[in-house]
Amino acid sequence: MMAEETEIRTYEPPEEFARQANVDDASVYDEAEKDYEGFWEKRAKELHWFKEWDQVLNWDPPEAEWFVGGKLNVAYNCLDYQVEQGRGDKTAILWESDEPGEGKAYTYSELTAEVKKFANVLKGLGVGKGDPVAIYMPMIPELPIAMLACARIGAPHSVVFGAFSGDSLRDRINDCEAKVLVTADGGPRGGKTAYHKKNADEALKDTPSIDSVVVAKRVGEDVPMTEGRDHWWEDLAAEAEDECPAEEMDSEDILFILYSSGSTGKPKGIVHTTGGYLTQVKATTRWVLDVKDDDVYWCQADIGWVTGHSYLVYGPLSNGATTVQFEGTPSYPGPDRHWDLIERHGVTIYYSAPTVIRAFMKQGTEPLEGHDLSSLRLLGTVGEPINPRAWEWFHNNVGKGNCPVVDTWWQTETGAIMIAPLPGLTKTKPGSATRPFPGISVDIYDEEDNPIEGAGKGNLVITRPWPSMLRTIYKDPERYRKTYWERLGDKYFVEDGAERDEDGYYTITGRIDDVMNVSGHRIGTMEVESALVGHESVAEAAVIGRNDEDKGQAIVAYVILEGDREGDEELIKELNNQVRKSIGPHARPEEIIFTPDLPKTRSGKIMRRVLRGVAEGQEDLGDTSTLADPSVVDDLKAARQ
Ligand code: WTA
Repeated sequence: MMAEETEIRTYEPPEEFARQANVDDASVYDEAEKDYEGFWEKRAKELHWFKEWDQVLNWDPPEAEWFVGGKLNVAYNCLDYQVEQGRGDKTAILWESDEPGEGKAYTYSELTAEVKKFANVLKGLGVGKGDPVAIYMPMIPELPIAMLACARIGAPHSVVFGAFSGDSLRDRINDCEAKVLVTADGGPRGGKTAYHKKNADEALKDTPSIDSVVVAKRVGEDVPMTEGRDHWWEDLAAEAEDECPAEEMDSEDILFILYSSGSTGKPKGIVHTTGGYLTQVKATTRWVLDVKDDDVYWCQADIGWVTGHSYLVYGPLSNGATTVQFEGTPSYPGPDRHWDLIERHGVTIYYSAPTVIRAFMKQGTEPLEGHDLSSLRLLGTVGEPINPRAWEWFHNNVGKGNCPVVDTWWQTETGAIMIAPLPGLTKTKPGSATRPFPGISVDIYDEEDNPIEGAGKGNLVITRPWPSMLRTIYKDPERYRKTYWERLGDKYFVEDGAERDEDGYYTITGRIDDVMNVSGHRIGTMEVESALVGHESVAEAAVIGRNDEDKGQAIVAYVILEGDREGDEELIKELNNQVRKSIGPHARPEEIIFTPDLPKTRSGKIMRRVLRGVAEGQEDLGDTSTLADPSVVDDLKAARQ
């Protein structure tokens, strides 16, 4: 009986899907295993290179170089090369605005022209090869245009998610010392308007490296423009030259920096380079997301996160696909917005996230009714573990049982998909990301750092280099080495827990470090803590992620006050604002608990496990005997009442 209860259904690839899949020969796994460098070399040959490489891989742990000596340009691959192959009149970006049915489409030729112009705008502002450019924008077409323009001239872009606060933007600009910031007056989202330029102005009070700001117009309201520094996008573009050659970039030149949360308060500037990144992003888009020439492909992530970089912009465009960029939210103007969009545009591939699927599930199937979703042929998810029930719901109600679901595991650091089914080949199991992509090798290690044999649970490890791996942390190689390589030497320590079953399938269970995953957004506990202690009434704060049915994790903050402020509603509001101001609204605590003390070990380390237990209402908090003062636990329980 037990076995029956825990048994998970498996799903063979639907026959019709398997017949047309980009990859339908299971020998790819063995072939890649025998010679993984050779496997990736074949994938690299699918790109356009000005000059091919002399060596596939130079691995001097923790430093990797892929396609050494090769020369290419990412924007050329995504634009000119597509036009050369006859896709000039094909839609490259299909942009749908916050209001249903409004939007704009760019063909590959049109997109190429816009990118060339904006590349010249950047050059005109003194941006050269190797100069980082900060981009802080809503989900408007100018965002991918700016990224591609940077790639064209070899300027690494640093995109900062548009919901980050001015303070967060300031820190990211200062870390990479960008000379130019590209932003917008603002943008509507879910019927509300956000004002990016206003936030940017906050940041710009203290960003000495910035000489120029380019502002795209989306909202059209008055915004303060600083003479000599701020320029309207449209004015500069109107004067820019049409032609702009694509810079020949070295395979290992930086394509972008993307800041990501880690265990400490300071976000890490994850560095991705050119040849290896595009090789793996292009291949995984074709193999896992099965993108083909006639697809209307929709990745619903914001471009401000890595998923948007790799699978809304670079992956689909380097494959010559039509990629949908959506400005709005799943619930505006009604709960059926995604289904309406899929129906109107005939979306064939829909790449979503567990948090979004769980929100849909909660609403029931009513919003789906009356929408023809028969264009869909593949579904994907990314960002956090997907519980089997949500997987099944997605498969049955959105995919009508006909679409394979690809659960894709990867990270900002990995650059591209690492563990996922090949939808024409792999039998799927709800909740499992299944097998490593061909050429990728992962394992599970125990707490003593020994590999586990067969089925088991432990720490996920990547055992050899991969083309789209991060190369370093911007200007901080020591932190790069310490964070990812110190523990295992030549193997990458993921900081995710995972379980492997008898079939060799992997289920990722979540982060094992102090990073929370809230609705698929990575937020460091320390970042929120340092925001809170920035408030004058806070003496100390400890933040944890509590399991949450909808968001995956919800942020709970324990706060010790100083002075004579009462922990009342008013103060909760102030603290929420404090977090909103220093990080952004997505990092606001769900619950703030005022407490006289925190559970600390004798060496002064906060026992987060206990805080998590209290926040989740667990009766048994495990061994608390190592606490300096075990009575704190009762205080905490009382404080939460
Ligand atoms: C989690 C997002 C389970 C994981 C691409 C990882 C997942 C972190 C999955 C990276 C998945 C991502 N199943 N967990 N399919 N995908 N994660 O850097 O904990 O924003 O380490 O990259 O998200 O988040 P990041």
